[in-house]
Amino acid sequence: MQVIILENPQQVAQHASEWIVELLSKKAHPVLGLATGSTPISLYQKLVQRHQQDQTDFSHVTSFNLDEYHNIEADNKQSYRMFMKQNLFDKINIDQTNTHLPTCNLIQDPRVQGMAYEDKIRNAGGIDLQILGIGGNGHIGFNEPSSSLSSRTRLKTLTKQTLQDNSRLFDSAEYQPSMAMTMGIATILDAKYVLLMATGKNKAKAVNEMINGPLSARCPASALQLHQHAVIVLDKDAASELSNQEYYIWANREHQKINQDYGFFL
Ligand code: GLP
Repeated sequence: MQVIILENPQQVAQHASEWIVELLSKKAHPVLGLATGSTPISLYQKLVQRHQQDQTDFSHVTSFNLDEYHNIEADNKQSYRMFMKQNLFDKINIDQTNTHLPTCNLIQDPRVQGMAYEDKIRNAGGIDLQILGIGGNGHIGFNEPSSSLSSRTRLKTLTKQTLQDNSRLFDSAEYQPSMAMTMGIATILDAKYVLLMATGKNKAKAVNEMINGPLSARCPASALQLHQHAVIVLDKDAASELSNQEYYIWANREHQKINQDYGFFL
């Protein structure tokens, strides 16, 4: 794992956006894995800025989102499709027919829908760079604690903690789904690179468990310890429970020299 500790959430977003821009410059047909939640919003703002100011081109990008709520129409304001449109897709020149979110409707067996999403990712050549956030309980995507470390896209029931954490995003009269279709942990580990962003003190415990805890379904993000190219980008608050911060800061400085000399390795 490469652990990068930065001053504040804006720097975290800036760093993540540089990875994406680098990928776009290196690959003719990049495949991005995207995430929802509050954390990546500032990353998407940076990408929109890059598109508007530097004409960063997204026309050849294919994207796959981590998850979508169960039985929610794409045009519902709470759908993750809507979140992606409002925060990114409608503001850049991506071909929206190449943007994918898992389906989770009542028409078809959810297990078939999950497998179809896996096929779609495989047929696109796999994900080059997967963006992730982390839940307060260590979930990635909607892989709640106890998720199999070799899970694939499937329907998951959300924990009380996740429902409560996300309830701030729903009006009191609004229906909050308690199930979601999510990429599995094995699906995430298949991505060539993963970049996890975490900001704020409320993530510090989960971040420490992910990096220093045992590899365990109790903290699904700990599965990233198995990934060959996992980059964890933190602000100071999210890193505050890590014991060996000085080492990460030093190692990252050394790493930056390599990036300066040779560019990002993607
Ligand atoms: C949500 C999403 C995750 C996200 C997490 C943290 O439930 N399914 O992909 O990483 O919660 O969200 P936030 O960034 O809002 O803290």
